[in-house]
Amino acid sequence: MKKFTTVHDVSDVNSLVVEALQLKQNRYAFQHLGKNKTIALVFLNPSLRTRMSTQKAALNLGMNVMVLNIDKEGWALELRDDIAMNGTTVEHIREAAAVMGQYADIIGVRSFPGLKDREEDYSETIFNKFVEFCGVPIVSLESATRHPLQSLADLVTIEELKARHRPKVVLTWAPHIKPLPQAVPNSFAEWMCKADVDFTIAHPKGYELCEDFTKGATINHNQDEALADADFIYVKNWSAYEPYGQILPGNEDWMLTNDRLKNTNNAKVMHCLPVRRDLELSAEILDGQSSIVVHEAGNRVWAAQAVLKRMLESL
Ligand code: CP
Repeated sequence: MKKFTTVHDVSDVNSLVVEALQLKQNRYAFQHLGKNKTIALVFLNPSLRTRMSTQKAALNLGMNVMVLNIDKEGWALELRDDIAMNGTTVEHIREAAAVMGQYADIIGVRSFPGLKDREEDYSETIFNKFVEFCGVPIVSLESATRHPLQSLADLVTIEELKARHRPKVVLTWAPHIKPLPQAVPNSFAEWMCKADVDFTIAHPKGYELCEDFTKGATINHNQDEALADADFIYVKNWSAYEPYGQILPGNEDWMLTNDRLKNTNNAKVMHCLPVRRDLELSAEILDGQSSIVVHEAGNRVWAAQAVLKRMLESL
């Protein structure tokens, strides 16, 4: 595997999930693969889980790890071509990505959207430039439109904990006070549409995701109806795709509570974290038996390890 930025970079999703669960049982079996190999994790935005789980996955595989918080510690990057760099940017992404490729065998990049210009965000300029200029395999640590390591860990968690063959999985919108990216719900939807699950997306009218990510999903604007008989509920806020990056008024009653779980199939509740308690998701759920958010975060290691193992095998 030379690139992991979307589910479309994976030829067989099920075998990657199986491999992640096998690595969970035998985490140090492939240390020889990473010997004398280096991964550079480049962050343009904050992270707890992605940073630590990917680092742990690389260490489990015997790799060396370098972390660069380029937004705080690096030179300000220029992305545009054919301009004189007479403003605040100091280094062009062409040189920066190419130089990183001299130091690392694999590069991971995190770059959030600006949520101002949809065309710019959805064109994934930073990722495409890294892919073009770094010359080594690239793994997304979350881009403007997708978070594939999170989605793989989510699918691993569902496969690991499901109690029936084809579980009902519901992605439900949740309230928030800040406009958040669509990357996690886009990505989750894209992966669930490829998985052997019965997949529904519940959101208030106006929060439709880009259809490129939701083909095959059932869309429901009635949360209670959508949650009926659910085995897994994936809670996440996102801002509107149209008008882009906006929060629409109302909908505070979409926060999931224990009462809302009554008609589910004893549903397990997931969230990618970080989560704002009693705003996005109730504390009674987070502290109760139905929450699997910490287990889900733990599985980030095995998802990352499966991807890095495949990349190391392709070097
Ligand atoms: N879920 C997730 O990606 O967490 P971080 O932003 O802390 O990495």
